[in-house]
Amino acid sequence: MSRRKPLWRLFFALMAMVLLATGCGSKTMNIFDPKGSAGEQQLDLVMLSVYIMLIVFVVVVSIYVFVLFRYRKRKGDDTPPKQIEGNTKIEILWTAIPVILLIILAIPTVATTFSLAKEPPKDDSIRVKVTAYQYWWMFEYPELGIRTSQELHIPVGKQVFLELEAKDVIHSFWVPNLGGKTDMIPGKTNTMTLDAKKPGVYEGRCAELCGAGHALMNFRVIAEEQQDFDKWVASIKNPKSQPVNAQAQEGQKIFSQNCMGCHAIEGAGMKVKGDKAPDLTGFGNRTMIAGYLPNDKESLVRWLRDPQSIKPGTKMPAYNHLDDQKMNALVEYLTNLK
Ligand code: CUA
Repeated sequence: MSRRKPLWRLFFALMAMVLLATGCGSKTMNIFDPKGSAGEQQLDLVMLSVYIMLIVFVVVVSIYVFVLFRYRKRKGDDTPPKQIEGNTKIEILWTAIPVILLIILAIPTVATTFSLAKEPPKDDSIRVKVTAYQYWWMFEYPELGIRTSQELHIPVGKQVFLELEAKDVIHSFWVPNLGGKTDMIPGKTNTMTLDAKKPGVYEGRCAELCGAGHALMNFRVIAEEQQDFDKWVASIKNPKSQPVNAQAQEGQKIFSQNCMGCHAIEGAGMKVKGDKAPDLTGFGNRTMIAGYLPNDKESLVRWLRDPQSIKPGTKMPAYNHLDDQKMNALVEYLTNLK
């Protein structure tokens, strides 16, 4: 009896873990529901290894159960089992089988890895340089001459060739529905191609432990029809960066005194266009603040007042020295950047 108890506990603990794991599903973060060709190819690889593991599991368990029953100790039979020492045939067999299985896994894995890293034909693709920082993302479109941060816009149905780099530590680019994870290493450029077959917002994550804010280093991929993508490009090229009212005008002044050293806003007459912090051009059109909070005035004030409490380790300083009037003006200016 006392020996059974821990087994039951283990069983219930396992069941609880399975139930908890089922709560982790999200429609926009699900590798089993790919929305692009890279995601599909990677899922094929996952399924191949799952099928191989299933076959191995069934074969091993069947042999185990068969031996357990066939050669069990029978009542009244006290003869010791036949003593054997090794069997060359079996040794060779169970060395060869895993080698063959690994080869079956390795060939498509290596082939897919290389084919996804290859640059697609230029006339049917766009190029995006992605740079990861602690803890945010910069997206540059060299062919279009624009850049943005935190939200990667891509046209549906087009191959997107990503050049992935990091500025500080190792990060990893991962959009569960579209593809990844590809390491982003300082001083080395890794590449991967992905596409989205349907318009939608796909959640992205950093998949490499990179510091205190790693788990909150979120971003989004916004896949849209070509005409909507073109509209977005135009809005970044000709942004509405002029203050919309007197309050926003005051906000712009506060921004240039406090934030311009790190953040840039295209079209706001800025001389410095640094890459110390996210480019805020078109900030009012973004869906998130810091890749994590909903983009509304209340959250923006929270973020500006105490970013450390929201994203530990962020290099964004707290703007507590601004009084409410100044803070509101700054927020008015930023949320109206379209
Ligand atoms: Cu960047 Cu984890």
